[in-house]
Amino acid sequence: MIITVGNTKGGVGKTTLGLNLAIARSIAGRDAWLIDEARAVRDGLRCFAVLNGADSVDQDNTDPVDALSDFPQLVLDAPERRRKPMANAAGQGMSVMEMSPKDAKSIEEITALVNGVI
Ligand SMILES: Nc1ncnc2c1ncn2[C@@H]1O[C@H](COP(=O)(O)OP(=O)(O)OP(=O)(O)O)[C@@H](O)[C@H]1O
Ligand SMILES: [Mg+2]
Repeated sequence: MIITVGNTKGGVGKTTLGLNLAIARSIAGRDAWLIDEARAVRDGLRCFAVLNGADSVDQDNTDPVDALSDFPQLVLDAPERRRKPMANAAGQGMSVMEMSPKDAKSIEEITALVNGVI
């Protein structure tokens, strides 16, 4: 299985989410190979839109979903909120699942993303 975390915009969390997805699979006992900055795209891939760096409760969270209202099948209801433990973990090359002390909310959100994608 190949999972691409992609966006045309920089700094939106591609590396952070890719890192967390890869490490979650590794923790689950599967082989995972993380390639950052891969640029190739091909047809026939399953595609999801996921909100990263979301606010707790805000219209900023509903606007992107509304913008995709013609493509509801694309929307993965697993928003990753802007959380310091996410940034801290990725800054050390780690998943939030590996960090100590554990941040339950970050782990819950990443687990929802993993389960939605895989
Ligand atoms: N859910 C989150 N909560 C808190 N901080 C986050 C979250 N997602 C990403 N960040 C932070 O946002 C910044 C950009 O994230 P990241 O490097 O993953 O983006 P990117 O899309 O890979 O960027 P680039 O286009 O430069 O490769 C980093 O400082 C990262 O720690
Ligand atoms: Mg990156």
